[in-house]
Amino acid sequence: MENMKAVRMHKYGGPEVLIYEDAPRPVPGPAEVLIRIHAAGVNPVDWKIRAGYLKDIRPYTFPLILGWDLSGVVEAWGPGAGKFKKGDEVYSRPDSSRNGAYAEYIAVKEVEVAFKPKSIDHIHASAIPLACLTAWQAIFDTAGLGAGQKILIHAAAGGVGSFAVQLAKWKGAYVIGTASGRNQSFLRELGVDEPIDYEETQFEDLVRDVDVVFDTIGGDTLKRSWKILKKGGFLVSIAGTPSAEEAAKAGVRQAKIWMAPNGAELTEIAGLVDSGKLKAVVETVLPLSDARQAHELSQMGHTRGKIVLRVA
Ligand SMILES: NC(=O)c1ccc[n+]([C@@H]2O[C@H](COP(=O)([O-])OP(=O)(O)OC[C@H]3O[C@@H](n4cnc5c(N)ncnc54)[C@H](OP(=O)(O)O)[C@@H]3O)[C@@H](O)[C@H]2O)c1
Repeated sequence: MENMKAVRMHKYGGPEVLIYEDAPRPVPGPAEVLIRIHAAGVNPVDWKIRAGYLKDIRPYTFPLILGWDLSGVVEAWGPGAGKFKKGDEVYSRPDSSRNGAYAEYIAVKEVEVAFKPKSIDHIHASAIPLACLTAWQAIFDTAGLGAGQKILIHAAAGGVGSFAVQLAKWKGAYVIGTASGRNQSFLRELGVDEPIDYEETQFEDLVRDVDVVFDTIGGDTLKRSWKILKKGGFLVSIAGTPSAEEAAKAGVRQAKIWMAPNGAELTEIAGLVDSGKLKAVVETVLPLSDARQAHELSQMGHTRGKIVLRVA
């Protein structure tokens, strides 16, 4: 059996449980491709799983490789796979019930893989799949955002928010976005029509009659969002559980979603990137061996755009 370098965890805990070490190189099974990873995106779910916050809903066995965002090159494939050939540059949000991408190699179901955008490097491509698919599935597939509609995006400067802003603008929506003072001009650069500094202003004092609220924060932010929706509007959350009772009282629809891997949507997203309509903002790049530092940064909750681990 061949080995590879990976960051693995053998138990739940703080960033110190992330160990850079040798691990068995995976072998692609039926309908799977083996990808040599060049870069792996870091997402808040990684440190939440590491800390054990999701252990009741997602049972993992150890040792576990975290990280479900990657860009790399196809190395081999298993029986029944054949869409990609050796050397193809691809990106993916692989199945998070299996080992992830803090490693030199990963075996991924072929349907979860797409050709990476040609116009950007692996670092930027690896920042896209999980966060951008989440934004896409929340605002388009779930809330049905359309041209001319008004959307409020919470945490618009973050990983998911920065893609949601650009996707909503591409669709022709009017975008209101929240962030701290340090990110107000960044929101304008992303395309936000009306940035709101949450440290200075309560968004509900300024905003009324939006068609869609995209909640990426949960808690009190979610609760304060009902009153700014117009009748028939849609509150979609990826961070909290909206109350069906509150939604009925406000006369709006609601959903909590978990994003799902989707190679076909990633192909459409790659097209948007290559036509200059969408970009990945990467604030920090660290070597794979510094995954602990990446988690410490992500856990602070103030990442602008994305954090990426350089693997190759
Ligand atoms: N359900 C799903 O399928 C799914 C998928 C992806 C992510 N998620 C979850 O969604 C959340 C967001 O993910 P992410 O990747 O976008 O996180 P992230 O990149 O870590 O978000 C960081 C951003 O949050 C902003 N922020 C912090 N507090 C805020 C506040 N009170 N109001 C407005 N903005 C605030 C920060 O802006 P400032 O620095 O300006 O404060 C920063 O830009 C996480 O909890 C994640 O686990 C769920």
